[in-house]
This record gives sequence, structure tokens and C-alpha cells, in this order.
Amino acid sequence: MRVLCFLWLVAGLGPAVADELVQRVIDHAAAHPDGLGPVSFERAAYTGDLRDLPIGVFDSGIGGLTVLEAILSLDAFDNASLQPGADGVPDFAQERFLYFGDQANMPYGNYPAAGRTDYLRELILKDGVFLLGRRWHDGRSFREDKPPVKAIVIACNTATAYGLEDLREACRAWGLPVIVVGVVEAGARGVLAAGGQEGVVGVLATVGTCASGAYPRLIESLLGRAGRRMPYIVQHGSAALAGVIEGDPAFSQSVADCAAQEVRALLETLRREQPGQKLGTVVLGCTHYPLARTELDAAFAALRADPAFSPLLADLLTYVDPAEWTARELFRELARSGMRLRTGESCRVRDHGFYLSVPNPGMPALPLAADGGLAQAFKYGREPGKLEREDTLNAPLRGEDLPAVGRGLVEKRLPGVWRAMAHDRDSSPRP
Ligand code: DGL
Repeated sequence: MRVLCFLWLVAGLGPAVADELVQRVIDHAAAHPDGLGPVSFERAAYTGDLRDLPIGVFDSGIGGLTVLEAILSLDAFDNASLQPGADGVPDFAQERFLYFGDQANMPYGNYPAAGRTDYLRELILKDGVFLLGRRWHDGRSFREDKPPVKAIVIACNTATAYGLEDLREACRAWGLPVIVVGVVEAGARGVLAAGGQEGVVGVLATVGTCASGAYPRLIESLLGRAGRRMPYIVQHGSAALAGVIEGDPAFSQSVADCAAQEVRALLETLRREQPGQKLGTVVLGCTHYPLARTELDAAFAALRADPAFSPLLADLLTYVDPAEWTARELFRELARSGMRLRTGESCRVRDHGFYLSVPNPGMPALPLAADGGLAQAFKYGREPGKLEREDTLNAPLRGEDLPAVGRGLVEKRLPGVWRAMAHDRDSSPRP
């Protein structure tokens, strides 16, 4: 078994067997097949034809909406023949999506540095179970009428890095034919497809994603299997940029200033770790970063004009946005497994749905910060294993749940999502 685990890890695929943490969630959900309590789903919902179920997408917050936008706008395949090539019809036109942002427990990227990778892994499994299940909170009480999902897209780099294999393992153990696609694997495929570019691959991501080493591992594994030259890879983890983009009141910097700071830091890392090399490819390895693409681009342009930094940049800088590659991967996986809706078929729900986690007002003595979110020390101090305890509730996402900066960015830069959200955006009550 040790040899098998080693080979699995070398291939960049994460743990091969369920450890205690994953097994506990598997056992808990299996022991509650009616799906009426926390961390459980209705097992009977997964019998028969699942093609008319919606597709679940989750992130630690609203950043994953960039991935949903890429999915909603993808036209990279012929919808009739399923062959590559645009046909003028969005590839997921018939499908419906349920988005979940675990806003109350984010940023995920900071759990590893706080020594709570175990709790992060449990959160990621809970996100998946929420999408599989029917249970949600309508602002007054729990309801059990959310549709289950036929596929799960982990639209969060940190969650993919730490939880993709756990979630796949759990779905296998529950005997669910549910597809699980992760944004990091897809992003590594994007680097492969960007192919033959001059220079170093730079990964900009959260501190947690960088610490996991998932991008370098998967990029090297994919390129190695494709018989391609191994590029130098450098990473820079930002503890701030995602929060700044989201409009988190804990940060006072502008998006442009923060982007400039992180781009400079990435190039300083390259100068230190790969002297004499030039940056040729930038992986936007955090869901939020495509929202700041203009600011990041401006930051690179400013440094190109600076003689201290221009030798560190290749003539052409290629961006890899894992969101688009995730959308392609989802299409291929649905087509391969026969789970895609065929022409003339429709999803059992009419509209896309959006949910966000919020602190549970019914939980006595829940430590809260001034802005109403979970207090930092409490958030990052929790231990896994208390599956019946619900510090947070998953409720419909409303317009005012989006901080002003984040709301502005979604409205301006994610038009497909903004349109899809119109139905949920301005209605439901808050717990
Ligand atoms: N969604 C996360 C990611 O893509 C960034 C925000 C967070 O740290 O939770 O890594």
C-alpha cells in the first residue's frame, strides 16, 4: 500500500485512501441517508437518471463566480457533435447551476498557515455535501427542497489543492456517480496548452495554495506525461489580494496598489530563485485574480518600463486563467460520462441558484467580529470532528451580501453571472 500511495502522490493526485478525517465524514453522511441533519444528503436522490439535475459550483466566497462566468459563457465545443469548435451556442446553455460561496468561513488560503489544514479539509467536504444535499436555510428555518447536483466544480484553488481527492474519495465511498472537477488540475492543463512559451511559469495564488505545492506538482506531472520540457516554476502567495478584491474591510489598499505589490513580489522571487530567467507565463491561481486582470496587467506594464525589472520579463507574457480550462474540463467530463443534457432536454430547475454561508444567529455565544463575521481567532482555532455543530448556515445570496467593491466587480466584469443572479439577488430574507 505504501508503494501505491507514493506513486499516487508522485503523479500529483493527492492521497489514495481515505484517512480518519475523510472517513468520519463518509461514515456520518452514510449513517444519515435521509439527509435531514447537518453534513448529510438524501441517498435515495441518487438513483435513476441524474441528467436533469443541476451542477454545483463552490468556492470559499464570491471569487468562484469568475469560474461560473467562464462556464456560462463557454463556447468551445459543437453542442451537437460534442467535438471541439465553437458553434455559436453556449456549451452549457441547457444546464442550470447552483453556486455556493462559503463566505462565513473564508479566507480558506489562511487556514494552512494557522495550522488548521485539517479543519479546512473538513470545510471542503461539508461544501460538497451541502451541494449534494437538499438542506438549506431560508432565513427562518431549515428547508429540505434544494435539488441535489450531478456534478461538483471546486471553483476555489485552495479548496482544490487541499480537498479535491478527499471529495472524490467520499463520492466513491458513497457510490455516487457524481463528477468532481477542480480548478487547479484544469489550470495545469491550461499551462500545458499555453505550450512552448519562452520563460518561467509564475503562479500567483493564496499563501495556502502555494504552500500545498499543488500547481508545481500538477504542472510538472502533466508536462512530464506529455513529454514536454520542464519549465522553471516560481510561486508567490498573497495574503491580501483576494480580500482586497472582495472589498474586505480588513484591508485598506486599492486593488491597483495591491496588484502592483504582488506582481513586484513575484518578480523578486523569480530574481532570487531563478537568476537570469524571464517570466513568460502567469497562472492566475486564485479565483479572485481574473477580476483584477486589468490591474495586474497594468502592474506588469509599469515594471516592464523599469530597467530594474524589465530583464525579468519575456517579450510576451501569457496569462493562464484556470476558470476557462475548468469550464472545458467540465464539458468533457459531462460528455464522457453521458451526464450532459441532450438537445431538447431541460434541467429540473428553471433558474440558477446562489447560496452563501453566514454566521448562525441561533448558535449561543458565537464569537463575532465588529463586521458581523466570525471572529478571526475563533474561525482559525476550530478543530474538525464536530459534525453536528453548525457555526454557519447556508442561505440564499442576496445583493447586499456582496461587499460594494465585490458587487461592482461582479456587475461590471461578470455579466453572465450578474444576469443569472437577478432572480435570487434581491429577494430572500437573511437568518
Ligand atoms: N477562493 C480562494 C482561492 O481560489 C481565494 C480566497 C480564499 O483564500 O478563500 O484560492
